[in-house]
Amino acid sequence: MEKWWKKSVVYQVYPKSFMDSDGDGVGDLQGIIGKLDYLEDLGIDVIWLSPVFASPMDDNGYDISDYRSINPLFGSIDDMKELIDEARKHHIKIVLDLVLNHTSDEHPWFVEGRKSRDNATHDYYVWSKEPNPLVSVFSGSAWEFNESTQEYYLHLFSKKMPDLNWKSESLRKEIYRLMNDWLDLGIAGFRFDVIEYIGKEPLSMVTANGPLLHPYIQEMNKATFGSRNTLTVGECWNVDTTTAKQYSDPDGSEFSMIFQFDHMKIDWDERLGKWNPKPLDFVQLKKGLSHWQNEMMDCGWNSLFWNNHDMPRIISRWDDDLTHPAEAAKMFAVISYFMQGTPYIYQGEELGMSNARYPLLETYTDVETLNAYQDLVIDRKVLTDKEFMAAAIRFGRDNVRSPMQWNDSKNAGFTTGEPWLPLCGNYTTINAQRQVDDPQSVFSFYKKLIQIRKKSPYSELIEKGRYTLLEPDHDRLFVYERNDGQRCLLVVANYSRSVLTYTIEKKIIGTVISTQSRPITQTIQLMPYEAFVVEVER
Ligand code: GLC
Repeated sequence: MEKWWKKSVVYQVYPKSFMDSDGDGVGDLQGIIGKLDYLEDLGIDVIWLSPVFASPMDDNGYDISDYRSINPLFGSIDDMKELIDEARKHHIKIVLDLVLNHTSDEHPWFVEGRKSRDNATHDYYVWSKEPNPLVSVFSGSAWEFNESTQEYYLHLFSKKMPDLNWKSESLRKEIYRLMNDWLDLGIAGFRFDVIEYIGKEPLSMVTANGPLLHPYIQEMNKATFGSRNTLTVGECWNVDTTTAKQYSDPDGSEFSMIFQFDHMKIDWDERLGKWNPKPLDFVQLKKGLSHWQNEMMDCGWNSLFWNNHDMPRIISRWDDDLTHPAEAAKMFAVISYFMQGTPYIYQGEELGMSNARYPLLETYTDVETLNAYQDLVIDRKVLTDKEFMAAAIRFGRDNVRSPMQWNDSKNAGFTTGEPWLPLCGNYTTINAQRQVDDPQSVFSFYKKLIQIRKKSPYSELIEKGRYTLLEPDHDRLFVYERNDGQRCLLVVANYSRSVLTYTIEKKIIGTVISTQSRPITQTIQLMPYEAFVVEVER
């Protein structure tokens, strides 16, 4: 089967914040349909749609109460069919975000299953007579008492997100059926939310990478998407390159690719993670990314990303004052677009949108942030309110979920109503309307990068060429080469506010792309955040 997704660019839509068509302050499917021209112009191939299934929205849709229906906030099943059809006309495929590690506690399986141990779906969830010390990713114990059966149920995320028990064969069959029904409707694949947990053995304290994880994925592959030409991507927070190769084995027995976070955890503290972040170690960042490039070469497939709905926007992450937002946005894109893997754009990244930086806890709606505040500041008192808020401004997930910045009118053209989260203050200068026709904009730069990957003399090289990190110990320059034996590309990026001099050792053949739109010479003074790619002699 043709691995079309190797040359594709994926665009993540976070539906609540993308485009509101009916004035209720929340984005919806008709809003997305209205923006397909914009997405086609950008040049993306696939939309990864964060969950739009029925949900009480405890975790913005990652808590599903019916996998077969659409949350009325976002529209109807007819809107979904229309989105699939209209997107196809724009040469865009739709990939659904499927959460199979847990459901909402309002899913009928749980509603019935929790009533009695004898009910058919009781076994669809994970129960224990005694809680063990497992903690939830969203703070506190991972176990919650259930009166009617006098047992505890497992929730690796919020209390309203009970974990599914993949050991139940009838659960697995139900899941495969619903997946096939969605595939039959014309979707092009799935993003599998926290899939690493489905093989858990919680009573032995094993959550990620349990013994049956890969057998389950292989069974799912055979029963559903394996025989269809899909893009499948597994989200994994706890994975090394050996396991990643298994997940994305070119033999097609599991997923097309993996979405892993090694480079995104680089500034997390050992004890409190992102709520007590460390300064960036740029040399480590380069080594980490390079390790994945080298290890996955020819035997697996990785996703390339700097942003998504769970983490700070990269241009804001290590830079509070953002003196050069557009330059930084272009520079980060250059670093990742010439690596091997499939690039993912998180909505607004293509405009250089920044974190919203909400200073007040009252503004936050995200269950993870609110639970962490309760746990770290109120219950355990390991962080002060001030310390926590300093971290929340950078890492609290609502900061990356602020509405899309379409234009400089009220609410940035996102809604005619009251937006569910306040807009980021810079929307009057950073917005799509200002950028689409400006050849110097971040948007136009992304368009060029996408075309270079998809249709240029370098496409094959970017897909297959060997990777070599140069200047590994330089603490401000990211320099690497890609070489497929026919051609060689040199990528140079200056992640600093200083002018840096760099000498290119090999003879330059031509410039591929440059953030400063100027000719590149053998010895060059790189401006702050400047990045370029040149073809050099092999
Ligand atoms: C994934 C999602 C995140 C969600 C969590 C639980 O990490 O990306 O948004 O909160 O899973 O479903």
